[in-house]
Amino acid sequence: MNKLAIYPGTFDPFTNGHLDIVLRSVRLFDRFIIAITTNAKKTPLFSVPERKELIEKSLPAGNNITVESFDGLLVDYAEKKGCIILIRGLRAVSDFEYELQMALLNRRLKPAIETIFKMPSEEYSFLTSSAVKEIAQLGGCVDGLVPPAVKSALIEKFKINQQSILAKI
Ligand code: PNS
Repeated sequence: MNKLAIYPGTFDPFTNGHLDIVLRSVRLFDRFIIAITTNAKKTPLFSVPERKELIEKSLPAGNNITVESFDGLLVDYAEKKGCIILIRGLRAVSDFEYELQMALLNRRLKPAIETIFKMPSEEYSFLTSSAVKEIAQLGGCVDGLVPPAVKSALIEKFKINQQSILAKI
């Protein structure tokens, strides 16, 4: 059997916590798709092509992972791909309610699709993309929190943002 899993998310930006979930999951499947939603609830810092490039740059060489984007319902996208396994990271109890709701709603929409939860390493149990963005925006150090490519992109993004703010003054 050719086992395929999809790891969906906003990935704005991809963190070491996401990477940890990917590396823990990928060896269990023949094919693995990291799927970026295009309908993010909040205005993203990085565009979908930027997020895709940053994820690709952060993955180990010679992997069985593809990075794609999707719009619309996740379960419809999974069905189109012929995939019945969704991977989600579960960091702490605080994630549980949101993840439970999403897993059960997705199951209701497409009962054949299962959600599998993976726990990240405890060193990433506090890590969120939002926190990383705030730290970087306020000039804090994101070493160890995000892959090097993401760190450089954050520095670049906030430099540009600061310049555009200065230009308006
Ligand atoms: O990284 P995130 O923001 O927690 O990921 C959430 C994501 C993208 C998995 C979720 O918002 C999603 O699946 N969006 C696609 C639209 C959809 O299917 N919504 C119904 C979920 S119950």
